[in-house]
Amino acid sequence: MERPGFGDFAHGAHPTYYAAPPVTRTAPVGTSGRPLPLIIDSDPGLDDALAIGLAVAMPELDVLAVTTVGGNADVRHCTENALRLLHAFGRSDIPVAEGAAGPLTGAVVRATGIHGETGFGRTVLPPSPASVHAEGAVALMARLLRESPVPVAIAPIGPLTNLASLIRLHPELLDRIAHLAIMGGSIGEGNTTASAEFNIYADPEAADIVFRSGVPITMMGLDVTHQATLDGAASRRLAACGTGAGRIAAELVDFAIERVGKWYGGTSTAIHDAVAVAHLAVPDLVSVAAYNVRVDTTDGPARGRTVCEGLSYRMDRYGLAANAEVGIRIDPARFQDILVDAFARLP
Ligand code: RIB
Ligand code: CA
Repeated sequence: MERPGFGDFAHGAHPTYYAAPPVTRTAPVGTSGRPLPLIIDSDPGLDDALAIGLAVAMPELDVLAVTTVGGNADVRHCTENALRLLHAFGRSDIPVAEGAAGPLTGAVVRATGIHGETGFGRTVLPPSPASVHAEGAVALMARLLRESPVPVAIAPIGPLTNLASLIRLHPELLDRIAHLAIMGGSIGEGNTTASAEFNIYADPEAADIVFRSGVPITMMGLDVTHQATLDGAASRRLAACGTGAGRIAAELVDFAIERVGKWYGGTSTAIHDAVAVAHLAVPDLVSVAAYNVRVDTTDGPARGRTVCEGLSYRMDRYGLAANAEVGIRIDPARFQDILVDAFARLP
């Protein structure tokens, strides 16, 4: 849901915020020899679909489960979409557990304007032989964290309601979370309001719980995901990569481009969620910087804003410690190649 910028802001250049210097990442990264165990918490969702496809295609990641949350569409659509996606990607063995239908408090917010009523545009995938997991999202996440021999990474790429519930219900498991690679927020402007990015705006109270939790976080906000865009040519690369998964991805991307085209003449779409997942599999794709991130939970015009403070003298003055690494740069061409290569490896 990116919007055109003005002047040199149009191409991912830093808008009017303090650009903290890059730091060495602390997020874990998987290797094909030692895949990183990963839970994806998602509201599929056009870009979620590409993130999930990327995750199951990358030998560096071991997807333990997909949990769903209401966001882009109603949670029942998101759950069905997750089941059908994993079936299309040859991974109907991965459990899909349903989570929260709406936010902890406040109004339900949807992004059907960009993703369509079902969350998948006009795409209808064959049903999966698998059905939704008997445990709910939070119970499944908790059990996987408890049973895993090593800490598990989680990629929340929708509203953070399930993660907030996990943190509140299972504080004893927080040290079993290897890292949270979150798609959400923005150092600069939002996309749903001038202040707030969708995933945060959809449940600011949940996001506030997550950012205060002390769990290690990488926040892939709009500042970096707006650099990770696909256009028509990229969609054609996906369609031509020789797999059904590639054709599905191309169809979903085309729908998103059509929507942004209608909204403001856009010709490309940001694959926001795949940036969070790629960061856990590719060590040097995304540059990050250290910020203190707080979430505005007021009911005013700044509701859902991620207030990112990275200027050291102000952090000292106000006693703020960094609680997140925030994505600031990505190589768009390399990102596109990684996606196309991944979808060429799927069925
Ligand atoms: O603002 C982008 C985020 O909102 C992405 O996760 C997209 O899927 C939508 O949920
Ligand atoms: Ca999403």
